Amino acid sequence: MDSTLVKKDLYVNGKWVEAKSYKDLYAPYSQEVLAEVPEASEEEVDQAVQSAKRASTKLRKMPAHERAYILENIAKLMEDRSEEAAQIIAKEAAKPIQTARGEVARTIQTYKFAAEEAKRIGGETISLDAAPGGENRMAYTVREPIGVVAAITPFNFPMNLVAHKVGPAIAAGNPVVLKPAEQTPLSSFFLAELAEEAGLPAGGLNVVTGEGSIVGEALVTDGRINAVTFTGSPEVGTGIRNKAGLKKVTLELGSNSGVIVDEGVDLDKVVPRAVQGAFAYQGQVCISLQRIYVHEQIYDAFVEKFLEETKKLVIGDPLSEDTNVSSMISKKDVERSIDWLREAVEDGAEIAYGGVAEGTTLHPTVVKNAGLHTKVSCQEVFAPIVSINKVSSVEEGIKCLNHSKYGLQAGVYTNDIHKGLDAVDALEVGGVLINDIPTFRVDHMPYGGVKQSGTGREGLKYAVEEMTEMKLVILNRN
Ligand code: SIN
Repeated sequence: MDSTLVKKDLYVNGKWVEAKSYKDLYAPYSQEVLAEVPEASEEEVDQAVQSAKRASTKLRKMPAHERAYILENIAKLMEDRSEEAAQIIAKEAAKPIQTARGEVARTIQTYKFAAEEAKRIGGETISLDAAPGGENRMAYTVREPIGVVAAITPFNFPMNLVAHKVGPAIAAGNPVVLKPAEQTPLSSFFLAELAEEAGLPAGGLNVVTGEGSIVGEALVTDGRINAVTFTGSPEVGTGIRNKAGLKKVTLELGSNSGVIVDEGVDLDKVVPRAVQGAFAYQGQVCISLQRIYVHEQIYDAFVEKFLEETKKLVIGDPLSEDTNVSSMISKKDVERSIDWLREAVEDGAEIAYGGVAEGTTLHPTVVKNAGLHTKVSCQEVFAPIVSINKVSSVEEGIKCLNHSKYGLQAGVYTNDIHKGLDAVDALEVGGVLINDIPTFRVDHMPYGGVKQSGTGREGLKYAVEEMTEMKLVILNRN
């Protein structure tokens, strides 16, 4: 079955359920209609939550090896249909096909890691006799499933960021109600097909599509939901936290990630990597390289080489094998990006390359000397725009990077390990990369930020911690 050219229904309690209302889903690049997708109502969300709640008892009791087996099956089934999965991503998200294939490969890894994690959820023993009165008591902790998880996912990694929520939830014995991004629901419907075939009990995964203000709101405020895991903007994330009450909330929010490039480093190595970090998937990645602070001794050489590499990028159809940069997710986002560039130029920045749009495609854009307070620098640009600025030292670069409300990942290229380690101490982020760009992630590493980049961590082991409750057991031998 071609999963991209059909009417899709809601997936609730292991069944495809007709919704009351549907809308057309358009491909961002070609503007063709890809599918008709449901717009769930509050009532339909209620049914999905009910089904998850019922499945909760079954999943809670399911042995770890069975949960692991289901996750391994999902990985295997995705492997068998990997090209179909990549085509879905390329069409609905306008992700260049080579990059989409990379996402599918990572998604398979993510489910495999989740399967492994399912088998090692455990606790620790605690010496209670460390406190007077604790003698002859033995204590240990166990981790129990938290209950129903609401997963609200973004458009930019429609398979893998879903896997980062569904994988650990199932590993930990929790059912999920998944609300994928409105722009990219087909990847989640595809997952539902796989989960069913993989043997996940009915209600273990429910997919409800529709507007954030209806579906998201209903999930976040529902008393039967025990945890909410969200990836998206700080504005929506803050709204979720404010409305979620005592539910556990994991938030992976935005960033304006940057890198410092010290004097003496090998530009042949650094520049191609930086170009990739800035423009992969049109810069619509939370850890995209948005700001580059280069030591004044090598600034001109860096910029020259960066422009040379950027000019090699092929712009076009996401389904074409050669394409490096394609359409942004919407025309509105292109217009916003152009506005932000205009503001930067009015403030004295220079557009060294790009700055032009064709339809929904913004050409890779390089800005020089963007002021720290301009939007292309201090907001999350989520577009193929990078700014390159001159600094006199790594220390100054650190100050510039920290001039941000975000703090997800940051990089520093230097031949001096002391400067690298000083940067580790001083950078206000969730992850520091020495001699690499911030745009690096493998799927088992802890991933998350500080400041407005979020709370909690993903990466299977860490997400499982977020999706389980610790229970203490004390044996009294007195
Ligand atoms: C993100 O955009 O937050 C995810 C980045 C990644 O998984 O590579």
